[in-house]
Amino acid sequence: MPATEADMQQRSALITGAASGIGQAAALRLHARGMQVLLVDRNEAVHQVAAALGPRARARVADLADAAQIEALCDAELRTGGCDILVNNAGIHPKRNGFILALEEISLDEWEQVLRVNVTAAFLLSRSLLGPMKERGWGRIINIASRAGRTWSDRAGTHYSTSKAALIGLTRKLGGDYARYGITANCICPGQIDTALARSSDASVLQHSARSAASGRIGTADEVASMIEYLCEDAAGFTTGAVLDVNGGAFIG
Ligand SMILES: NC(=O)c1ccc[n+]([C@@H]2O[C@H](COP(=O)([O-])OP(=O)(O)OC[C@H]3O[C@@H](n4cnc5c(N)ncnc54)[C@H](O)[C@@H]3O)[C@@H](O)[C@H]2O)c1
Repeated sequence: MPATEADMQQRSALITGAASGIGQAAALRLHARGMQVLLVDRNEAVHQVAAALGPRARARVADLADAAQIEALCDAELRTGGCDILVNNAGIHPKRNGFILALEEISLDEWEQVLRVNVTAAFLLSRSLLGPMKERGWGRIINIASRAGRTWSDRAGTHYSTSKAALIGLTRKLGGDYARYGITANCICPGQIDTALARSSDASVLQHSARSAASGRIGTADEVASMIEYLCEDAAGFTTGAVLDVNGGAFIG
């Protein structure tokens, strides 16, 4: 049965990294469908994004590299029943002067920071928030990985590529283990998308990305958000453990 608007309006979604880019675009789309949305980000600007959405939108500032802050966030959410949809979107990709670091230039601190934000946060949030989804027999976990977790890329740092490949692994395991509870877990792997994160690369890197996609351009945040919205539908209930490429045809098998 396709989801009715009434079904969608009963859902609540927690979206990380929602102060900008793909997370913000996802918050806009899910809010427009009538959902309650909680926007989480380390950037205080997340309050303005939620305020601009109006009723049914809340914001919380949290640094997802910090397990204690994730625990406090989850405790607060669980006191009000948790969420139906978890979008693990926050991510970082450290560069120097617009270019990636070679493996031998990456410090242990930087390596651990990337893994904490890009993978461990998704594990901790999923671990805490799966409980109410299981009880309700319905849930959606949507992880935003990257093309860089799928194939080798000379535009992605080793820590970033490793973290995104790990997020794909986490998604597959979650998708398989929780399908029987009505919970799906899927992973979106964007190619280059026009956001602040992409613009932290040198312009030549973005031009190369545009040239290497069959579409001849980079994507928009909303083109990823539309896939997130689809995965929230009841109609997407048979899609789980999937790795969905949104990359303008960067590699076509
Ligand atoms: N833009 C691209 O080309 C691209 C390509 C592939 C994958 N992605 C992935 O998409 C996701 C969203 O990225 P984006 O392009 O929208 O970038 P963005 O920089 O516009 O947004 C990322 C958001 O995450 C937040 N964030 C970062 N570290 C955080 C932390 N420790 N705690 C809480 N919030 C934190 C930032 O403040 C920011 O608002 C990321 O996981 C990224 O790896 C992006």
